[in-house]
Amino acid sequence: MTEIDIREAARLAQQRVMHSDVPIPRDRRRDVTRPPGPSQVRALRGFSAPGAAPGFMVEVERTYPAMAHLRLLGEHVYVLTDPQAIVDVFVTHGRQTMKGRALQGAKVVLGNGLLTSEGDVHLRNRRLVQPAFHRDRIAAYAIDMVSLTAAHEATWRDGETVDMQQDMAALTLAIVGRTLFGADLRGDAREVGKEMEAILSGVGARLLLGPTVLRIPTPARRRALEASARMDVMVQRIIDEHRAMGDNGDMLSMLLAAQEEGMGLDDAQVRDEAMTLVMAGHETTAMTLTWTWMLLSQHPERAAWLHEELDRELGGRPPSMADFANLPRTRAVIAEAIRLYPPAWLQGRRTLADLDVAGWLIPEGALVLASQFAMHRSTRWWETPLAFRPQRWIDGSGEFSEDAPGQPRGAWFPFGWGNRRCIGEQFAWTEATLVMATLAQRWQPELMPDADVQPMPAVTLRTRDGMPMTLRRR
Ligand code: HEM
Repeated sequence: MTEIDIREAARLAQQRVMHSDVPIPRDRRRDVTRPPGPSQVRALRGFSAPGAAPGFMVEVERTYPAMAHLRLLGEHVYVLTDPQAIVDVFVTHGRQTMKGRALQGAKVVLGNGLLTSEGDVHLRNRRLVQPAFHRDRIAAYAIDMVSLTAAHEATWRDGETVDMQQDMAALTLAIVGRTLFGADLRGDAREVGKEMEAILSGVGARLLLGPTVLRIPTPARRRALEASARMDVMVQRIIDEHRAMGDNGDMLSMLLAAQEEGMGLDDAQVRDEAMTLVMAGHETTAMTLTWTWMLLSQHPERAAWLHEELDRELGGRPPSMADFANLPRTRAVIAEAIRLYPPAWLQGRRTLADLDVAGWLIPEGALVLASQFAMHRSTRWWETPLAFRPQRWIDGSGEFSEDAPGQPRGAWFPFGWGNRRCIGEQFAWTEATLVMATLAQRWQPELMPDADVQPMPAVTLRTRDGMPMTLRRR
């Protein structure tokens, strides 16, 4: 790509970032008392040392069991560690907040799509996209999910070593590609995967810097901008093809057909939504499945507990949506993996008003953080929190229940909250359950004995060096 193209890509990205629907307030107050918290040096180290941030959040949760205040990049940051305080900010006062720095920064790639837009634009986006996640649509996607998993399984070879992180990402990308763009994305899946990787590794860790990310001319920035520009071209081509084809029942057709007050979405808006759904929808589920495989490999007795259910309920046949209710152990295994390794491990907001929370005043313009990673591992709310015990999700009548462990609301929020709750939650549960139920019937991948698996917080909680596993037939 030439220098001119990069400049153009940077200009486009800058435009996306700067397009803000609400003014961004800053907390510069001097007249408020702030709760105690870690020093500025400790906070900077906690967030910037590679891989350190989830552990730092755990440390803050243990040391400050309600709320901590710290300074970071010139901002006042409140870390919430009390479940009720988390509910107060993210649910009760959800509409008096906007997304935090990382998602503001993510506009570089995602523009003004559902994940990153604010206020009325977000409300309109949500209404437009919602029908694509209706129960009936998910049931239709379930058929694609199972058939794509079966096709993927056909590429697995007994005894072969794979990077499970990449392997699962290829599968979930194919699934999101098929449901979002129709069958024609299969050929592009690998390419999209590569571009995503470049974008994530290029801007991922720097997202906390917000829009500043674009002004630091690093090789990673260049890679991310190039990849983003190539994705733009690809998404535009797919949009043009869809226009020519007419409605073929996938999400993109729905977006193109969407009308509001007689106005359809323009191509830039469709591009932002499509990009958002691919980004938000594939990596999260891929990581859920990857961590689940790792945990099952490390706990053969839990794997046997799962296999007993799959053999009994499915007896070797492919699962379907109708089996969902009869697979409580499969769902429990996934829930437990999400608890220990939540793909969305940290959530941030900026306050749009002064908020009264847990006896403290959080001023307008402050940043608020809540970490799924820390809250899901807290000894205050979970029995033996570091143990992989999927049984904790099975209630007295043998059903899967998200309430079964007895944790308070606010200590379990893998899909976020309120008006910004994950729109793909049911999609993700369906996908992860059906993929696991299909593959774990016949396969028991083993983590390589010398694998050094280090959680690495990027946009999602990934691993530093992949997840090397040997495929083993059961
Ligand atoms: C295990 C899988 C997943 C996890 C853990 C997850 C987690 C989350 C979380 C925590 C949020 C809220 C972010 C915030 O408030 O700042 C979110 C939002 C979102 N997710 Fe997911 N997600 C998953 C799968 C999916 C899938 C499969 C899709 C789409 C196909 C999707 C699309 C979205 C979108 C569009 C939003 C923005 C919603 C809005 O702001 O209105 N997610 N997700």
